[in-house]
Amino acid sequence: MMTWWQNAFLGVSDGRLTLAGRDAAELADREGTPLFVYGRTRIRENFDRLAAAFAALDGLETRICYAMKANPHSGILRFVRGLGAWVDAVSPGEVEAARKAGFPASRILFTGTSVGVADLRRVFREDGITINIDAPEQIEILREVRREFPGRRKIRASLRWNPGSGRGFTAGVVTAGRRSTDGTPIKFGIEPSKLDTAFTAASAAGFQPVGLHQHLGSGWTAEDYRSVASSVDRMVRKAADLEKTGIRLEFLDFGGGFGPRYHPNQGVFPVEAYAERIGRRMKEAGLHVKTIAVEPGKFLVGDAGVLLLRINYVKESFGQIFACVDGGTFTSVPRPAIYPGAYHEILNATRLAEPRRTRVTVAGNLCETGDVFAKSRPLPTPRRGDVLAVLCAGAYCRSMASRFNLREIPREILV
Ligand SMILES: Cc1ncc(COP(=O)(O)O)c(C=O)c1O
Repeated sequence: MMTWWQNAFLGVSDGRLTLAGRDAAELADREGTPLFVYGRTRIRENFDRLAAAFAALDGLETRICYAMKANPHSGILRFVRGLGAWVDAVSPGEVEAARKAGFPASRILFTGTSVGVADLRRVFREDGITINIDAPEQIEILREVRREFPGRRKIRASLRWNPGSGRGFTAGVVTAGRRSTDGTPIKFGIEPSKLDTAFTAASAAGFQPVGLHQHLGSGWTAEDYRSVASSVDRMVRKAADLEKTGIRLEFLDFGGGFGPRYHPNQGVFPVEAYAERIGRRMKEAGLHVKTIAVEPGKFLVGDAGVLLLRINYVKESFGQIFACVDGGTFTSVPRPAIYPGAYHEILNATRLAEPRRTRVTVAGNLCETGDVFAKSRPLPTPRRGDVLAVLCAGAYCRSMASRFNLREIPREILV
């Protein structure tokens, strides 16, 4: 019987954990730990599933723009480009990495926030790039920098609106609405009442408005579907209103947000229903715009990556068991340390078949109490030298890792 986390990359053979068919513990012995391992097979499977969901929409075309902030590994970038993806880049550094990986500028959407003159000078060098405008107040800066490129045809622009409500698994990743769930004012996007004039101002500043964009947040599960579906309806209504005023768009970009399965009890966000909803609403509204864009990060690469760690020693303190490992959260998989409620499944690759009868805290090698990958988690009784696999480590792990304590960031391999 398949366990909930098995996929084209993560498997079990003869009771042992395999990564793209290779024995995980042997891979750890050969390559050393800590080690990120990413699997092309699973990225392709995720991409194909998403592409199939949108391909079912007759008469509408879909762009899958990989949100490369999730994982900018050059091999992954080249691989998703080969699958036909576009890319969503949020900084000049990401634009450069995308170009190096072979993405033409015409397949890059630049969605910056707090973007200044220096950023724009670097981004506008890429003739054919599409820029996503985050604020009416940004347009003056865009106009100024645009003047430095006099020979350039109109620069393609989409406008990111803030539709008034967002959705995410924790406050720090809700990106639309007035305030997040913890009260933090949300900095992203243009408020609805300012959108029409922002379109006019962008045109007047030498930009060609080609898209309307929203991104609600990250880590959606099945429970988020209703709220997300109503935001689809809102976006389509807004696009219809814009078309009535004579604005002709090329695409509607619904952003990213749909997550992989991190937890066994998590309902998985229904991407097929989501795609169907987008297509149905666009057809019902009779829109001119026929291209849909989505910006998956987590969905494409989250469950296509694991972090392998080795237990340095097992410690017992006040009756609690700690598996003290050779990597740290901040330096590899920071999500459990920075996001309340972020869960990563952990497997003991050395003892996969043993019952999970010991409550284990998997403790990292950094000087911080919060540096734990899992707290009091039922796991096979750990031993010194065991290899642990932290699952769903393909997205927002290496890309968010720091060199806290001057520890090294783990190596990455793509298999
Ligand atoms: C504008 C934008 N698009 C797409 C994404 C990707 O989100 P996810 O990885 O949840 O799909 C993000 C993530 O923060 C984002 O800010």
